[in-house]
Amino acid sequence: VYVHVPFCRVHCPYCDFYTYPSARGRQDHFVAAVCQEIELCTTRLSPEGYQVETIYFGGGTPSLLTPHQFDIILTMLERMFACVSCPEITVEMNPGEVTAEFLAALKALGINRLSLGVQSFQESALRFLGRDCGQNAVLSALELVRAWGNWSADLIFGWAGQTIDSWSHDLELVLGYQPPHVSLYQLTIEQQTRFGSLARRGQTLLQTDDAQAELYILACTILKQNGLEQYEVSNFARPGHISRHNSAYWRRTEYLGLGPSAHSFLAGRRTENVRSLPRYIDLLNSRRSPLAAVEVLTPATARREQVWLGLRTSEGIPRQWLADTLYGLLEDAMAHGMVANRGDDRIVLTPKGMAVADAFAAQVLFTDS
Ligand SMILES: C[S@@+](CC[C@H](N)C(=O)[O-])C[C@H]1O[C@@H](n2cnc3c(N)ncnc32)[C@H](O)[C@@H]1O
Ligand code: SF4
Repeated sequence: VYVHVPFCRVHCPYCDFYTYPSARGRQDHFVAAVCQEIELCTTRLSPEGYQVETIYFGGGTPSLLTPHQFDIILTMLERMFACVSCPEITVEMNPGEVTAEFLAALKALGINRLSLGVQSFQESALRFLGRDCGQNAVLSALELVRAWGNWSADLIFGWAGQTIDSWSHDLELVLGYQPPHVSLYQLTIEQQTRFGSLARRGQTLLQTDDAQAELYILACTILKQNGLEQYEVSNFARPGHISRHNSAYWRRTEYLGLGPSAHSFLAGRRTENVRSLPRYIDLLNSRRSPLAAVEVLTPATARREQVWLGLRTSEGIPRQWLADTLYGLLEDAMAHGMVANRGDDRIVLTPKGMAVADAFAAQVLFTDS
């Protein structure tokens, strides 16, 4: 289950996720609407056919909800669905909201994983990225989440002005806190954001592709040397700390997305909720579906997804998923050190291939027609 919590104190200029200004309130209405959406779903799905394995509160800034509001949503989910005995329950947090009391309250609710949006330790980068807190807040938050237990840190790389030295320094600093899990995100310029309009006006916001690849491969090497194994293009974990929730996406396990703009994958359909909090609340108050888009997957689309998602992971894909014609393209990629045949007849991307994973998958999928 994914719950999209759409509130943010400020909207970062690079971010395209749906958010609503937290200063305008509405958190209680949002929580009530999520509970209504859960009830509505259970009238359409057969809840007895499902077992919840993971719950992920993403955003937006889930840490802007109170422990009581988390409790209301979790209680409703437990009432409506069977859960495995120890579900993974993650909450994304911005450093500004991390306090010892808040973390203790989350633990008491059974929340057992935190994902902290560090992004960078450099004051200049935090300003450039429009973050609402400086280095001191990031460091204090890290002290608290380390003491709390199971956590992950998000870092962003590839922004103009970032150097190999400043990136190495960021990685060293985060590794000093012994993170069980790290996610590295290459800064992406999304068209509908402030960075999108600055880029259209000619401002340089990113490093060159080659410099980004260098930053990425450096990070993969440093994380591996420090015991964090890469299990997906952007994700690294110590043994036993792979995110069960994110892994389910890459395995194409079904999931239910709740909240405005949330996506679901159920019964061979991918759906998307309306991207507006007021509209979402209105629809659910009148017991109407918040769905805005539905895609029924054809067998061909499902196969393409399987290849694309599988290639992102360190498990790769079985060689037999690819037609013989395509194997020629792969041999070429192998000769360039992008792809390896793991030995058990599974095709995996090398670190060099991971750096261009999306472009590579697009090429494979385009050829596999
Ligand atoms: C949507 S945020 C939610 C978590 C939290 N609000 C935060 O900002 O840390 C999840 C992660 O997405 C990443 N992200 C969002 N927009 C991005 C972009 N345009 N390029 C790269 N990473 C991005 C950030 O690293 C962030 O930690
Ligand atoms: S990056 Fe996080 S804090 Fe910034 S706007 Fe996006 S969801 Fe909100």
